Amino acid sequence: MYVPPNVVTNDDLTKVMDTTDEWIQERTGIKERRYATRFEETTATMGVEAAKIALERAGTTANEIDFIIFATISPDYYFPGCGVLAQRLLGIKDIGALDVRNQCSGFIYALSVADQFIKSGMYKNILLIAAETHSYGLDFSTRGRNVSVIFGDGAGAVVLQPTEEEHRGVLSTHLHSDGTAAEILSMVNPGFHAGKFVAEKRPKEPGQPYGGLFITEELLEKDDIYPYMDGPAVFKMAVVKFPEVIMEALNKNNLQTSDLRLLIPHQANLRISQFVQQKLKLKDEQVYNNIQKYGNTTAASIPIALCEAWEEGKIKEGDLVCLAAFGSGFTWGSALLRW
Ligand SMILES: CC(C)(COP(=O)(O)OP(=O)(O)OC[C@H]1O[C@@H](n2cnc3c(N)ncnc32)[C@H](O)[C@@H]1OP(=O)(O)O)[C@@H](O)C(=O)NCCC(=O)NCCS
Repeated sequence: MYVPPNVVTNDDLTKVMDTTDEWIQERTGIKERRYATRFEETTATMGVEAAKIALERAGTTANEIDFIIFATISPDYYFPGCGVLAQRLLGIKDIGALDVRNQCSGFIYALSVADQFIKSGMYKNILLIAAETHSYGLDFSTRGRNVSVIFGDGAGAVVLQPTEEEHRGVLSTHLHSDGTAAEILSMVNPGFHAGKFVAEKRPKEPGQPYGGLFITEELLEKDDIYPYMDGPAVFKMAVVKFPEVIMEALNKNNLQTSDLRLLIPHQANLRISQFVQQKLKLKDEQVYNNIQKYGNTTAASIPIALCEAWEEGKIKEGDLVCLAAFGSGFTWGSALLRW
């Protein structure tokens, strides 16, 4: 994992918007988060910092990697994706680089893709990076406070390789989505939608036959360029889908919650994790949370938590670990691992 050195506390945020440390901690559990060093760090550079550590711990080098998967919703460029930027920074040539845009469940989706490539024998050394730089694009006025206080920057990475051992590694992955409420947690602008799905997002007729529907003056005037979240609606759905998809993974492998050494949920909100823990009757030591220190780092939250849990000795060889995520889309998923 790599997180930028710049720690931003809840009290720091009270200086730019109308919020309090008490409100943030009570509703989300977050005490502080990291923000990327402005003009120096990006999603790609932070991802590569995490990747270098992952490569070293996996006992491999960038030259041996045969495929890159990069999960993010805060890419450096609209295109090309962060996969090729990471490839360039790592000095690797020619290998494939795939970008995954599945928001909070980006890491699980990317892991599932990597797992299929490894199991089919197509690749032997996959570098999976998940990173986010939310702080460059959030609304730090009071208007955006329900979203901005939650998100943080950071990166995580893993290297996936095949194993001959049966019942080892990624046992199964489970992916789901439901786009009926896609805009409930979204950042639709700038986009190429021309207001097709949400009438109030329809731009004025630009007075020209072609173009003029992407970044409009009206958009900038209205300052309508930030993420939107209906927090309570997301919360309600998350506390149903998290337990469902965790049980799906356990049932598929004929295992029970008591077999779990550690559940690493996407760090959306401490209250969501606590709700899930209660619903599944998991002990405190079976659930890992570090949102208090980093906020919600979207695609990066699971690999960051996985890394810290492993460094703290909470995951040992042979342990059963479940990763689970829910987020914008909605998309959700789980992965069961025998470490
Ligand atoms: C976002 C979330 C913390 C908001 O908590 P909530 O209890 O649902 O709060 P509401 O959105 O109903 O807002 C309650 C009040 O707090 C205010 N508020 C919102 N953000 C605030 C902030 N940062 N500081 C102070 N007050 C804030 C609201 O304006 C509202 O005020 P009002 O009652 O005067 O209108 C909560 O809904 C949540 O965690 N949802 C899930 C979000 C999530 O996990 N997203 C990531 C998905 S992967």
